[in-house]
Amino acid sequence: MKRLEGKRAVVTGGAQGIGAAIARRLADEGAVVAVLDLSAEKADEVLGAPHIGVACDVSDTASVDAAFAQVAQRLGGVDVLVNNAGIGSAPGDGMAEYYAGQAARAGGDETAFADQTIHCADEGWSRVLAVTLDGAFRCSRAAVRIMSEQGTGGSIVNIGSTAALAGNGPVPYVTAKAAVLGMTRAMARELAPRGIRVNAVNPGATETPIYAPLPEEVKAAVAADSVMNRLAQPEEVTGAVAYLASDDASFATGSTINVNGGAWFS
Ligand SMILES: NC(=O)c1ccc[n+]([C@@H]2O[C@H](COP(=O)([O-])OP(=O)(O)OC[C@H]3O[C@@H](n4cnc5c(N)ncnc54)[C@H](O)[C@@H]3O)[C@@H](O)[C@H]2O)c1
Repeated sequence: MKRLEGKRAVVTGGAQGIGAAIARRLADEGAVVAVLDLSAEKADEVLGAPHIGVACDVSDTASVDAAFAQVAQRLGGVDVLVNNAGIGSAPGDGMAEYYAGQAARAGGDETAFADQTIHCADEGWSRVLAVTLDGAFRCSRAAVRIMSEQGTGGSIVNIGSTAALAGNGPVPYVTAKAAVLGMTRAMARELAPRGIRVNAVNPGATETPIYAPLPEEVKAAVAADSVMNRLAQPEEVTGAVAYLASDDASFATGSTINVNGGAWFS
C-alpha cells in the first residue's frame, strides 16, 4: 500500500517548478491531487485523471474559496494541503533598482548601492506578501474549514525558503517566507486538537523556470552558496513534502525540514 493512498491533496502553484514536482510525487505515492494555479489549463496538464486542475489565484479570497469548494465537491474532501504558490518579486518592489545598483557597484562605482528598501513602493511590497504570505493563510483557512468538517484530521505543508533563515533575498519575499514559518508554528499549536498537523519545508536554490533567464555566472554564484555547489532539482524537494504529508510524520508538527544542500545549517 502506498503511503498516501486514500488521501486527497491540494498543491497550490502546482502548474510548474517545485509545485508540479510535488504534485507528481504525491500522486506517485497514492494521493488524488488537485493542482491549483492561475491557469486551469496549465494545472490540468500536470497530471491526468483522476487528478484535477483548478484555476485559483491565492491572492484573492473569493477565488481561493471557490477553488476549495470545487475541490471538495470533485474529490469529496481535502486531507493534505501544500502551500507552494509564491512569488519572489513584483513590479514596483525595488528589485530593478537593486540590480542596477549591484551592477554599478560591480563596475567600480562606489557611490552606488544595491538597495531595495528605499525604492520599494507599497504596491510591490503588498503584492509579494499578498501571494506568498496571505495566499498561504487563505488556502490554509479554506482547507482547515473542510478538514474540520470532515473530522478526520489532515496535514498542511508550507513551502518556506532558505532565504527566510539566511536573509539572502528580496526584502518583501524574505519577510513573507519568515512569516510563513511563524504561521506554521501558530497553526500547529492551534490545530493539534483537531488532528491537523502543520509543518514547513525550506528549499534552497532550486532549478525551476525562475532560473531559466539568468546568466550562467549568476546560477554558478547561487550554486556556490551550497556546500554541494549546485542547485537542487525540483524533485529533490518532494520527498520531505511527501513525508510530512503522510502518516509517517504522525508526530511531526510545527517543524521545518531544510532541503538546501548545506546552504544554511540550522
Ligand atoms: N526555486 C527556488 O530556488 C526556491 C527556493 C526556495 C523556495 N522556493 C519557493 O518554492 C515555491 C515554488 O517555487 P518555484 O521556483 O517552483 O516557482 P515558479 O515561479 O516556477 O512556480 C510558481 C507557480 O506558482 C504559480 N502562482 C504564482 N502566483 C500565483 C497566484 N497568485 N495564485 C496561484 N498560483 C500562483 C505560478 O503560476 C507558478 O506555476 C515558491 O513558494 C517559492 O518561493 C523556491
